[in-house]
Amino acid sequence: MSTTDIVTINHLTKRYGDVTAVDGISLSIRRGEIVGLLGPNGAGKTTTINMMIGLARPTAGSICINGIDVVRNPKRAQAIIGIVPDESNLYGEMDGFDNLCFCGALYGMAKAARERRARELLEQFDLAKAGKRPFRAYSKGMRRKLTIAAGIIHEPEILFLDEPTTGIDVESARHIRRLLLDLKAHGTTIFITTHYIEEAERVCDRIAFIVEGRIAARGTVSELMESISHGHTIRLAADTDLTPYVDQLRARFTNCTIELQSDHSVTLTSQERIPLSPILQYLDGMGVSVFEAKELRPTLEDVFVKVTGIGAARLGKEKDKGGLGR
Ligand SMILES: Nc1ncnc2c1ncn2[C@@H]1O[C@H](COP(=O)(O)OP(=O)(O)O)[C@@H](O)[C@H]1O
Ligand SMILES: [Mg+2]
Repeated sequence: MSTTDIVTINHLTKRYGDVTAVDGISLSIRRGEIVGLLGPNGAGKTTTINMMIGLARPTAGSICINGIDVVRNPKRAQAIIGIVPDESNLYGEMDGFDNLCFCGALYGMAKAARERRARELLEQFDLAKAGKRPFRAYSKGMRRKLTIAAGIIHEPEILFLDEPTTGIDVESARHIRRLLLDLKAHGTTIFITTHYIEEAERVCDRIAFIVEGRIAARGTVSELMESISHGHTIRLAADTDLTPYVDQLRARFTNCTIELQSDHSVTLTSQERIPLSPILQYLDGMGVSVFEAKELRPTLEDVFVKVTGIGAARLGKEKDKGGLGR
C-alpha cells in the first residue's frame, strides 16, 4: 500500500453456494482519483462494491478504507463514505427535500446544517423545483440524481457509485458525469462501476476490467491502450483499385507490413513511425491518388475485446443511449 492509497482491497472473494461471484480481486484507490470497475452484467461489480462498503460479507479477503478494516468495522467505515446503490434507497412518499434531510440526520448532521445542505444540493442537481414533490413522482434521471445527492449530503471523503448512469436519460447521465468530475475537482475520491466503455474512458483516471469475478486488466486509459498497441498503423484510401499495386508496394517499402483492407484501401503497419511522403509520391508516380491517410489507434473497446476475449456487444454502447456526450 502506498501512502497515497485511501482504499486497498486484497484477494477479495465472494461465493454464493457454487457460484463464485468475486474471485480474488485486489485493487487500490489513490486519494483524489476516480477509479472505475468496468464489466458486463453479472461480472461481479455490485458484489464487489457491496463488500467494499460493508453491505456484503466477503467469503475471503480484506478491505481497508482510510485505515479502517471494513469487514470488522463496517459502521465506522460507512461514516466517512458516501454510497449510491444501483437501486435507490430513498422513500417514495417523502419529498426530495425531506429525503435529503432524513439522510443527513442518519449521518448525525444538526438540523440547520442538513437543511442548508439539502437546499444547496437540490440547487446543484437541478432539482430545486422538485424539492417539494414526492420522490415516487420523479423521473428515473431525477431519482438517480437525488440518490447521488443523498449519498454526498455529509460531504464524504470517498464516494461509491454502482452504475450511476444505467437506465436513465442522456441529459441526466451527462449531468451526473459532470457532477462527478466537479466532486473530484473538490478533492472527493470516487469509485464507480459501469458497463459503458466510453463512460469509463471519460470519467476515470484508472480503470479495472472485471470479467467473471476477476480483474482482466487495469491501468490508465493510455496504459491499457499501450498494452495492446503494436507499433503504428496507417490506412490509405484511394479512388483507384489498389489490388494491382499491393505487391509492388510490399517490394518497395519493406519496413512495413502492408495489407489490402478493401479494393480501395490498404494499411501499413510498422514498429517505427511511418514517413508518408515517399509512399504518396510512389503511388502518385503510378497514377494512384490517395485521398485519405489516417493513423489507426486502438480504442479502449479494442483493448477490452483483446484482453477479455469477449465481444464488446456485451457491454453497453454510448449510442444505445443516443450518444452520452459529456
Ligand atoms: N445474492 C446472491 N445469491 C446468489 N448469486 C448471486 C447473488 N448476488 C449475485 N449473485 C451472482 O453473482 C454474480 C455477480 O453478480 P453481480 O455482482 O450482481 O454482477 P454485476 O453487478 O456485475 O452485474 C452473478 O452470477 C450473480 O448471479
Ligand atoms: Mg450490478
